[in-house]
Amino acid sequence: MAAKQKVQIKKIAISTGGGDAPGLNAVIRAAALSAIMRGWEVYGVLDGFHGILSPEEYPDGGFVPLTRDRVRGITHLGGTILGTSNRNNPLKYPIIHPDGTREEVDRTDEIVRGFRLHHIDALITVGGDGSLAIASVLAKKGLRLISVPKTIDNDLDKTDVTFGFDTAVGFATEALDRLHSTAASHGRVMVVEVMGRYAGWIALHSGVAASADVILIPERPYDIHKVVEKVKERESQGSKFTIVVVAEGATPVGGGLSVLEHEAGRAERLGGIGEKVAADIHEISGKETRLVVLGHLLRGGSPTSFDRLTALRFGAAAVRGLEEGYSGVMVALDPPQVKYVPIEEAMGKMKMVPMGSDIVLTAKDLGISFG
Ligand code: F6P
Repeated sequence: MAAKQKVQIKKIAISTGGGDAPGLNAVIRAAALSAIMRGWEVYGVLDGFHGILSPEEYPDGGFVPLTRDRVRGITHLGGTILGTSNRNNPLKYPIIHPDGTREEVDRTDEIVRGFRLHHIDALITVGGDGSLAIASVLAKKGLRLISVPKTIDNDLDKTDVTFGFDTAVGFATEALDRLHSTAASHGRVMVVEVMGRYAGWIALHSGVAASADVILIPERPYDIHKVVEKVKERESQGSKFTIVVVAEGATPVGGGLSVLEHEAGRAERLGGIGEKVAADIHEISGKETRLVVLGHLLRGGSPTSFDRLTALRFGAAAVRGLEEGYSGVMVALDPPQVKYVPIEEAMGKMKMVPMGSDIVLTAKDLGISFG
């Protein structure tokens, strides 16, 4: 049970951090309106914590009032009106000295000071695992705050689901549906790479929903020969095409992750496994193979009604939580309820696809191969 201590709140701030996810604007709107209803003033921090760390870079000081007018008509919009960033983590802020040497410094004290300077009584921070780690330090330094979890990857622990995931799965499903007809017409193998970081949720859910033939996820290293066996099995049954969904974090048995870019101070950028899978299938089977990388398309567009509703519930629950005196907690979905869990219980733990879960078993019963 998370600890509570009621204090009077007059002014709050909201920040969005990490990769964007459809539903962020709905959280901002719900939190702003719920706070305004209680007579509180609401401010948005621009670009994650950058607005508070480098206010001189913004004409409006990096800190904008979130009035009723400012949050009107944004629930259905993708992205975040506040901007976001998944670099320049304030816990390990990269500094380059004049002699070219690099250093990573902790700038969380400056963030706490910045909020005090603006007389902010409490913060709502919306983000993924990286943002939770920052929030946990800020809370320990005395900043009253509540975190709202977000990621299209659905890999955050202690919440049933994160908003953005349903929208990403819906888009991937539609893309896979569209690829079916062209794959069938040409008798090709179509490899589709989807995001998801180190977890296979997007690949699994969209792959099962769209009747993919092969789903490769990080939770189970794949054997390319088994993938080709599936292609051949389908051919022998009269299906000349195969749809393969590959999560960006999938790895071959005995092989490593496909990494596009390593940059200090931020998570490695994954990608490229789809290309490898497509090339390997072509080489072993001789089949004509095409690759489609859905990439950032999965992060864009209007949130589904499920994601809007979850995001609105999270935003309103964050404000109710602050009013009730919670701090250092994350809002979480525990159907049918929204609850508050200590940030420490949720951070640093990745929620992976359990290979014995009902959806995996369903996929297997439908004849889908995991390689
Ligand atoms: O965490 C969300 C996510 O979209 C991952 O699925 C993906 O690996 C990563 O962000 C991409 O990040 P960037 O915006 O830096 O390309």
